[in-house]
Amino acid sequence: MTAASESITDTTGEDMTMTEAETGAAPATAPGHPALPIYRLAEVTRTYRQKNRVVHALAGVDLEIRPGDFATIQGPTGGGKSTLLQLLGALDRPTSGTILLGDTDLGTAGGGVLHRIRAHEIGFVFQGFNLIPTLTAGENVDMALEPARLSKAERSERVAEALARVGLADRSDHRPGELSGGQQQRVAIARALVKRPRVMLADEPTGNLDERMRDEILDVLQGLNDEGLTLVVVTHDSAVARRATRRLRLAKGKIAEL
Ligand SMILES: Nc1ncnc2c1ncn2[C@@H]1O[C@H](COP(=O)(O)OP(=O)(O)O)[C@@H](O)[C@H]1O
Ligand SMILES: [Mg+2]
Repeated sequence: MTAASESITDTTGEDMTMTEAETGAAPATAPGHPALPIYRLAEVTRTYRQKNRVVHALAGVDLEIRPGDFATIQGPTGGGKSTLLQLLGALDRPTSGTILLGDTDLGTAGGGVLHRIRAHEIGFVFQGFNLIPTLTAGENVDMALEPARLSKAERSERVAEALARVGLADRSDHRPGELSGGQQQRVAIARALVKRPRVMLADEPTGNLDERMRDEILDVLQGLNDEGLTLVVVTHDSAVARRATRRLRLAKGKIAEL
């Protein structure tokens, strides 16, 4: 498929069929636009209405995330961190303002486009790992390739590569219950990586881990960022923020660079 027909697919949201080549790593920057940010947010708000109460979870956020950033977002509980991460993850839409991923407007793109973006361009990591206990590490990672329509051989090659990148090449046949918390989170990171996403989003990825396992995860994240992966990590832990290239604080729905 040519670049032109791919952009038509994006705007109509109709043909979601992906070839093997298209599901590969998205370029961090478009040719001829070396500095094009990954995300551009302008005056983003997200308001929740609960009965007669209105919550301004995000109250006008302007933000750029650039290729190769390792950005952390700190701030008090209720400050809007998870809300922002859900918007970045195309899991929710802003109440007002614009949020661009590359040149796709996540506020107005069709549901099919958002689905494709979640399946191919964004890796998610959560505090609670969210692995399926009855599946092996390899099967958990493989699940993320379900929408990609790859051959069996290509899938198993990608799964092996993702597990190797987090140092778990020899744990593919282990179930989550047979792994430490740090290893489980590394499987979850492999599950995000196997899509070859252009950005990885993590919400408190070390929140359930002791200090040693936290450092194990931080080493993995830092290694991925050194290889060029863009990371946005919500965290309470200043040890996580110390590894970042950019530190942001979100409080009362407003963001600031630290
Ligand atoms: N689905 C929702 N419905 C109603 N209010 C919500 C919802 N999600 C979050 N909020 C509210 O929005 C504010 C920001 O929440 P959140 O983004 O979860 O903050 P953080 O992750 O920084 O703790 C809080 O006041 C929270 O209660
Ligand atoms: Mg939160």
